[in-house]
Amino acid sequence: MKAFEHIIVETRGKVGVITLNRPKMLNALSFGVFGEIATAVDDLEANDSIGCIVLTGNEKAFAAGADIKEMQPKGFIEMFSNDFIAIRGDRVATCRKPTVAAVSGYALGGGCELAMMCDIIIASDTAKFGQPEITLGTIPGIGGTQRLTRAIGKSKAMDLCLTGRMMDAAEAERSGLVSRIVPSDKLMSEVMTIAEKIAEMSLPAAEMAKRAINRAFETPLSEGLQVERDLFRSTFALEDRLEGMAAFIEKRKPANKNR
Ligand code: CAA
Repeated sequence: MKAFEHIIVETRGKVGVITLNRPKMLNALSFGVFGEIATAVDDLEANDSIGCIVLTGNEKAFAAGADIKEMQPKGFIEMFSNDFIAIRGDRVATCRKPTVAAVSGYALGGGCELAMMCDIIIASDTAKFGQPEITLGTIPGIGGTQRLTRAIGKSKAMDLCLTGRMMDAAEAERSGLVSRIVPSDKLMSEVMTIAEKIAEMSLPAAEMAKRAINRAFETPLSEGLQVERDLFRSTFALEDRLEGMAAFIEKRKPANKNR
């Protein structure tokens, strides 16, 4: 496993865990952090034994946003011409394998955007989500205005992005941003149970389900349904599909081979 400066990367069975590790700065996302996350995703995606990737922070913060101290002196040309974040910053969103964000404490600005790049967000009861960029005289820059709006609708996204207020875990769950809330001391154990369950599934089937759901954000319904149908039919080329249905009929657990 590579040594990283700002993150910790572990494999726990079939699950890869990326932990943001800049606690003194509430896991502020510098260019370096984004780069390390992207490299870790590259590695875990290429690792055949990994079936699900978990992204997490610490109890106080998932991540309190992009690194304001790093950004403050930058000008337009630097942000535009060396737009590293645009090139590698959304690597989590382009990951083929299923991803789960385990969020405790602050998920603000780029932190909220990073969580939203994951397929599932599990929040601890202490989680706080927000896009406070407006209070800094800027706006969300890695998906906040787009993914948040798709997740929770226009009025609430406007409310958060225009006032900069935070929403707690209960409001985030009510709004559809997070799929489950768990007690903070059980966050990682609950998330690992979910991630392990996903990692036990046929990986190509999981990747196809993920791809089909993500198309729902990009295409009209009729095209999305066509993509789904094509991918559904494609699963009939999988040994895992044959095995999965045989195992059901024979009342046993399937032995997935990820092919
Ligand atoms: N960037 C850089 N440093 C940060 C940071 C950030 N996003 N968030 C917190 N820190 C630092 C603080 O400066 C502080 O450092 P010092 O001890 O050196 O002063 C340390 O982390 C602890 O933070 P606080 O003392 O502020 O902790 P708190 O508990 O009083 O407050 C907080 C917590 C409400 C989250 C507050 O830290 C805060 O408002 N942070 C900034 C949130 C924010 O505006 N995020 C958006 C960033 S812009 C962005 O993300 C753009 C984009 O879309 C790409």
